Amino acid sequence: MESIVGDEAIIATNDNASECKRCAVQIGYWEDKYINYFVRNSERKAPEINRGYYARIKGIELLIQKFLLKCGKNSQIINIGAGFDTLYWRLKDEGLEFGNFVEMDFPTVTSRKCHLIKKSRVLLEKLHTEDGEVRFSSTDLHGSGYHLVGGDLRSLSEVKSKLGAGGECGLDPSLPTLFLSECVLVYMDAASTGRLLDWISSTFSAVFFISYEQINIGDKFGEVMQRNLRSRGCTLAGMEACLSKEAQQQRFTSHGWDGSKCWDMVEVYNALPQNDVQRIELLEFLDERELLLQLFQHYCITVAWREAPDSKFDLSSIDF
Ligand SMILES: C[S@@+](CC[C@H](N)C(=O)[O-])C[C@H]1O[C@@H](n2cnc3c(N)ncnc32)[C@H](O)[C@@H]1O
Repeated sequence: MESIVGDEAIIATNDNASECKRCAVQIGYWEDKYINYFVRNSERKAPEINRGYYARIKGIELLIQKFLLKCGKNSQIINIGAGFDTLYWRLKDEGLEFGNFVEMDFPTVTSRKCHLIKKSRVLLEKLHTEDGEVRFSSTDLHGSGYHLVGGDLRSLSEVKSKLGAGGECGLDPSLPTLFLSECVLVYMDAASTGRLLDWISSTFSAVFFISYEQINIGDKFGEVMQRNLRSRGCTLAGMEACLSKEAQQQRFTSHGWDGSKCWDMVEVYNALPQNDVQRIELLEFLDERELLLQLFQHYCITVAWREAPDSKFDLSSIDF
């Protein structure tokens, strides 16, 4: 039985992530017209935190764009542990074409998200089905190309019933599919993540995974990060995979994936479009360069792919 106290602390990490994103958006790091519908208030965060979120958002955005360009408008996107992420609405505004978009999180989080979406005409506008109906339950929502479902990712039966073929989300395992998880797997025990990754790699015929989370968590700076999270009641059940790039990659390759690559955020930041990096570097004075470098060295983006032998998407070529 998972600890309820632990789960509550993990659920609370979504509020923190949403507040940090809102703060960075307000300062002008990137554009997000939707975050205010999910978070009302946020205190100003330190410049290195804002830059960290900028690198994370932009790095992930770049990889998603490359995936969609390669795989086309039937591609499915599944954001696990999505929290209050606004990615669906932002991608729609960018005019990028994709098929079904699904988000899954604990029911406590999805019921709050359902409620906030229901209240907002702006958010609802982009979910309309042909007959104009968006179906809501207390924890789930089904629009024409957007689905929000509640469940515990550690329970394979819940995952299968929500994300499997024939479920209400209308996912089709034969279509190219992108899985995204941002700071989620670190809270799950290795056995549960292993089962989840096995199921994804053996179910979808062309699948790409983007994961953002901690790395080098075993060194001195990493230990401070761990202590901070633990002091908030979060158990880092998946921290073994956050010890190194190799451990991040191995988590995938030992669970049925064809290959995996990992970049720390120093590498990601250097690979971002430099004109935009120069723009954001003028937004705030950064006193603590060393601290930013250490933060970047302790987070990473890992990708993994699996394709059936007759698939032609060449997912292994997607990188920075
Ligand atoms: C740090 S927040 C990140 C939210 C979002 N991905 C983002 O980047 O803004 C972690 C999210 O993972 C979700 N999560 C963690 N473990 C989960 C599990 N076992 N089942 C479902 N959701 C989970 C939490 O509820 C929370 O919303």
